[in-house]
Amino acid sequence: MRVLVTGGMGYIGSHTCIALHDAGITPVIYDNLSNASAQVLDQLEKITGTRFEFILGDIQDEQQFKLALKHTKAEAVFHFAALKAVGESTEQPLRYYQNNVSGTLSMLQSMQEADVNHIIFSSSATVYGEPDYLPIDEKHPIRATNPYGWTKVMVEQAMQDVCNANSQFMGIALRYFNPVGAHPSGLLGESPNGIPNNLMPFIAQTAVGKREVVNIFGDDYDTEDGTGMRDYIHVLDLAKGHVAAFMQHKTDTAFHAYNLGTGQSYSVLDMIKAFSASANKDIPYKSAPRRAGDIACNYADATKAKNTLNWHAELTLSDMTNDTWRWQTNYPRGLES
Ligand code: NAD
Ligand code: UFG
Repeated sequence: MRVLVTGGMGYIGSHTCIALHDAGITPVIYDNLSNASAQVLDQLEKITGTRFEFILGDIQDEQQFKLALKHTKAEAVFHFAALKAVGESTEQPLRYYQNNVSGTLSMLQSMQEADVNHIIFSSSATVYGEPDYLPIDEKHPIRATNPYGWTKVMVEQAMQDVCNANSQFMGIALRYFNPVGAHPSGLLGESPNGIPNNLMPFIAQTAVGKREVVNIFGDDYDTEDGTGMRDYIHVLDLAKGHVAAFMQHKTDTAFHAYNLGTGQSYSVLDMIKAFSASANKDIPYKSAPRRAGDIACNYADATKAKNTLNWHAELTLSDMTNDTWRWQTNYPRGLES
C-alpha cells in the first residue's frame, strides 16, 4: 500500500516515513522544502535502505496535489505539512491561515475528487488552550490562543464536516503534546532555522556550545519547582502512533481524535538536568521573564489511544535526551540544505 506524506521531509513526517516503511507501507513524500533539507532523503535511505519517492510540491497547488495522488495511487494521506511557529503566526496570521488552512482545504478537495478518502492529520495539544483540568482528555473543550492554534482547530473542524458530509471519508486528528528526540541512528532529527523557539533544541544547542545559556521562561509558576511543565514525547513513539491510528481505522469512516502524549510531565529544570546527564556536562541556565501565552503545565490523558489503538509511548526521558544529543553532536548545524 502507498500513502502520500505531506511535509514528509520535516521533523515528525520523516520519522513517520520510517515507521510506515517498517510497517510495510510505502510512503511517497510531498513537500515544498520550505522548512526542510533535501538531504533528508539521503538520511532516510541510510536508515531504511530504501530511496523514498519524493515529489517537490506545495499543498496549496490543488492541481499538482491531485496529480500526485493519482500518479502515486496513494490510498491515504498523512498530512504533516504546515507552518508551526506560534510567535510568527501572531505576526503573519494570513500566511498561516493561507498555508495551513487554505492549503488543507485544497487538499481535501483534491482528495475527494481523486477518491482518496483517508487523512491522518498533525494536530496539537494547542487546540485545548489553557487547560480547564489535567490530565487533558479528548473531551476537553477546544479553543486556541494564537493563529497557529486556530489553524489546527479550523482544519479539525473542516475534516469533521467532510466526514459528516461524505460517508466514505475517514479523518484522524492526532493531537501531539511536545514532540522531542531524534532517530537513535543519529542521522535524523530536528534542526530549527535560527534561534529555536522550543526548549529541547535550545538546550541541545546550548550543550553543544552554539548558545550561551538557556533562558528559563518563568520560575514562579504553580508547579513543583516553579518552571513550566510539559508532556514531552519521543518522536519515534509519535511516529508509531500514526501507524497504529491508521491501521485501526483504515477500513472505517468518520472523524476520530486522539491525544498522543506520555501522560507524564517534566519541568524545564528536569529537562536541563536530564540533558546534562546525556551530554555529560553542565548546561548553563538563568531565569527569565515568563513567555507571553505560556501555560504552567499540561499533560495528556492518552487512555483513548491506549484502549482503541493499542498504542502507548514507550521511550523514556533519557531516550529523548540521549537521542537528541547524538543527533546534535553529529550534525551541530543541521543537514545542509
Ligand atoms: P517541520 O517544519 O519540520 O515539517 C513540516 C514540513 O512541511 C516541512 O518539511 C516543510 O517544508 C513542509 N511544508 C510546509 N508548508 C508546506 C506546503 N505548503 N506544501 C508542502 N510542504 C510544506 O515541522 P514538524 O515539527 O515536523 O511538524 C509537523 C506537523 O506537526 C505540523 O503540522 C505541525 O504543526 C505539527 N505539530 C508539531 C509540533 C512540534 O512541536 N514539532 C507539535 C504539535 C503539532
Ligand atoms: N521554555 C523555556 N526556555 C526556552 C524555551 C521554552 O523555559 O528557551 C519553556 C516554556 O516556557 C515551556 C516549556 O519550556 O514551559 C516548553 O516550551 P516549548 O516552546 O518547547 O513548547 P510549548 O509547550 O510552548 O509549545 C509546543 C509547540 C507548540 C504546540 C504546543 C502544544 O511549540 O507548537 O507544544 O503541543 F502547540
